[in-house]
This record gives sequence, structure tokens and C-alpha cells, in this order.
Amino acid sequence: MSRGSEFVVVANRLPVDRTVGADGVPRWRRSPGGLVSAIAPVMRRRKGTWIGWTGAPDEELEPFEEDGMELYPIAQSAREVELYYEGFSNATLWPLYHDVVAPPVYDRSMWDAYVRVNRRFAEAAAKVAARDGLVWVQDYQLQLVPRMLRELRPDLRIGFFLHIPFPPLELFWQLPWRRQILEGLLGADLVGFQLPGAAANFVRLCRRLLEARYVKQDVFWDDRVVRARAFPISVDVGELNDLVGRSDVQERVQEIRADLGDATVLLGVDRLDYTKGITQRLQAFGELFDDGRLKPGQAVFVQIATPSRERVEQYQLLREEIEQQVGRINGEYGEIGFPVVHYLHSSYDRAELTALYLAADVMVVTPLRDGMNLVAKEYVACRKDLRGTLVLSEFTGAAAELKRGAFQVNPYDIDGLKSTLMDALEAEPAEQARRMRTMRRRVIENDVDRWAHAFLSELENPAARPGRDESE
Ligand code: ADP
Ligand code: F6P
Repeated sequence: MSRGSEFVVVANRLPVDRTVGADGVPRWRRSPGGLVSAIAPVMRRRKGTWIGWTGAPDEELEPFEEDGMELYPIAQSAREVELYYEGFSNATLWPLYHDVVAPPVYDRSMWDAYVRVNRRFAEAAAKVAARDGLVWVQDYQLQLVPRMLRELRPDLRIGFFLHIPFPPLELFWQLPWRRQILEGLLGADLVGFQLPGAAANFVRLCRRLLEARYVKQDVFWDDRVVRARAFPISVDVGELNDLVGRSDVQERVQEIRADLGDATVLLGVDRLDYTKGITQRLQAFGELFDDGRLKPGQAVFVQIATPSRERVEQYQLLREEIEQQVGRINGEYGEIGFPVVHYLHSSYDRAELTALYLAADVMVVTPLRDGMNLVAKEYVACRKDLRGTLVLSEFTGAAAELKRGAFQVNPYDIDGLKSTLMDALEAEPAEQARRMRTMRRRVIENDVDRWAHAFLSELENPAARPGRDESE
């Protein structure tokens, strides 16, 4: 046990997925989503091990190195992928934690698989971590790992970060396994959330459900203090700056603009997920043509949607709905060679995404609920030119930091969304610059390095001693 990794990240996915190219050759490619975008740069800078799943069922692989990181694969059988990943993680927890925007499924066999797979991750971390090492567990798929790991390795310092919202008591209470989840999280020394409100929800639940004593956001449990804190996650500003400065990226921006004609370009970049409010934004955009407030040729919408969780029913339904919507709008208002909505169901590399951000006049980010939303921050980080506007849902974590510069919107209010899109489309360059400058200040000051540093230094050196016990 004297050897091993001093720093271990445990996440459902490895930062790379195995894909097979058109030439039939298997390759590793960066995994989708905000978690990987945020942790991969931190991981590359610290010598550590990342424990996670390769994204394919029944794949048993030895540890390997890729992209400057030590990777330790965890296998999942096809049945476990169905019950633990698609099931309990993404058909139960995901909708429950996102305001039940889709109905959560409560199924005991899914729960059993969640426990089993969480144990496998905990056992791997117990094996890989050096004595007194630091283990950082990520996200809702692994909420039981902190407690399981503490039972196996009480010497470790354990942090947990939840990348998605943490629901209020009134919703969390639905969960048949609510107690086990809370006790799982309480195995950590530090539980991190995106926003202070989520940390407050967690402490309130510990008090009501477990009758735990607490002081402010310190919970007393099992003769330990568990700290709940907010650490709003961010983006790698340095990486995006480098991409913006590349001549091939700038050339690509010109190409995209030339392909889209003279139209004002609205852009959406998301995983294809029902929490992202894609149908609401397309409805608003389509209605602007129906109302005659926009004319074909005046504006185009480019919607990039990364395929995600494609075997989960709600995701299949969403895909069908979006494809119908896009078909209807283009059928009504498109012309040969000039659709008004460009819908791309695909994943792109960072350079192409950067070029798209730079080519867009209006970035449209309209989730019904989102823990943070890194796309909004990536757009702002790329716009050194102080051009472009951001339409941002009030229900994203990012709105807490960007509300002064963004055009804020309630995505459930289609009329409000329509007029906000028009305001953003029509903003003069001086207003664009003023808003963008305000947002850039926040994003540049609080980039992903600062986020990781804040979390890890709080884990290593608790900032404050607990004060008066408010539960007594
Ligand atoms: P989530 O974690 O729910 O997917 P975020 O907006 O926080 O949402 O993070 C999404 C991340 O995935 C961002 O870093 C974004 O650049 C990346 N991403 C989103 N769509 C695509 C795409 N089509 N191709 C490549 N990367 C994408
Ligand atoms: O950021 C939320 C999150 O669910 C991450 O945990 C995950 O890595 C990412 O989105 C992508 O989701 P998935 O791993 O299900 O493709």
C-alpha cells in the first residue's frame, strides 16, 4: 500500500471513448460533456490516475496511458450499462435532479445495479490510491462511492463534486433510496456543488432525513465533519485562447460564414438532452418566421447536438421531436441550398467548436435546468473580439455569474424567448461589447484552474473551523 497514486479521479467515464473510424481503425476520442471538459486539463497537470468506464459494454482493458493521463478502466456488462448507466443514473437520478422535467423511473433492479457498480468503482479506487492519498469522486453516477471507499480505506482524503443540480427536499424526498444516497455522499470530507443553493438543499436534507447535527454548511456525521460548499465550475480559458489564435481556426470561421451567406447566425451547441430546452428555442425561432418578424435569408440557426444516451426512451422521443421540428421549419421557410435551420447530430473537435463560436452572432443557451452549462462560458471565453451576444436561461448555474452581460430568458415563456432572441439579434456593436466585456471579466477571473484549485485546497486545508451548532 505504500505505492500507488497520490491523486485519483473517479468518474463514470474515462476522459476518452473508444470509437471506430470510417477506415475501421479503433481510436480514442475525448468523451462528451462538461465533466471531461473541466477535469481533463486539471488531470493533465497533476500526476494522477483517472478511474472510469470506456463507454463500451463488456470491455475488459488493462490500465493504459492516453493524452498525458494514467487511465484505469472499469468494465460494465451490457446489462449493467442498461440498469446502472441508462437506468438508475439517467432514467432515475438525471430527471429527478433536473426538476423532474421528465418523469423519473423508480426500479429496484436498477438500484441494485447502481449499488453493485458503485462498489466496483470504490474497490478500484481503494486499490489504486496511495496511503493518505487524495481521491476526487465525480458526479451523480457515483454517489455511493465516498462511503464505500471510506469503509475500505479510512486513511484517504475523499472529495466529491456534483456537476448537476442538487434538488430541493420536496423532490429528493420521492427517491425510495434517499437515505442511502445521502449516507453515501456523507462518506466524503468535502461535498462540492455548483451553487450555494444546492449545498443548502443538501444540508437541509441531512438535517431532516438523517437528523444530522450541522453548523452552517458543516454536517456532523459518524464522528466526522463533512463540509458542503459551492464551487462553480468553469472552462479552460488558456486552451480556448490558443484555439482562437490559430490561423486554421480563423480560416474555418471565414468558411463557415461564407457558407451561411449574409444571414445573422444563431448557434446552439448541446448534448441532445431534454434538459437543454432545444425544442423551446427552435419553436421560438420558427414562430419568428411565422409572425413575419424574421424573413428567410435574414437569420439562420445552426444547432449542433451531440448524440447522447441514445438507448434511453426519453432521448429517443426528443430526437424524433427535434427532427420533425427542423423538418417543419425548413419545409416552410427554407429554399434550395438555404435551409433556415442547420441541424447537425454529431460531435466535433475543439477547433471546429471554437470556429463555430466565433462565427456565431447569437449564442442560444436555453436549458430548462442545468447545473452550470459550460457552452455559455466557452462562447464568452472565445469572444476576445467583444462581438456576439449570449441568450441565457435563468435556470442554468452559469446565469448566476453571467446574468449582467447575457440576455436572460425563461425558456418556458416562448413569447419572452422570441422577443429576447430579437433583442439579442438586433443589439448594436457597442452594446455587444459592453455586455461581452462584463461577462469575460467573470469567466477569465474564474477559470477551470481556479475552480479545481479552490476545491482541492479546501479538501486539503479546510478553510474554517466549524462554529456554533445551529441544529441544537
Ligand atoms: P453537459 O455537461 O450537460 O453536457 P455543458 O454545457 O456543461 O453540458 O458541457 C458540454 C461540454 O461538451 C462543453 O465543453 C462542450 O464544448 C462540449 N460539447 C457539447 N456539444 C458538443 C459537440 N457537438 N461536439 C463536441 N463537444 C461538444
Ligand atoms: O456533466 C453531466 C454529465 O452527465 C457528466 O457526468 C457526463 O460525463 C456528461 O454529462 C456526459 O454524459 P454521458 O457520460 O452520459 O454521456
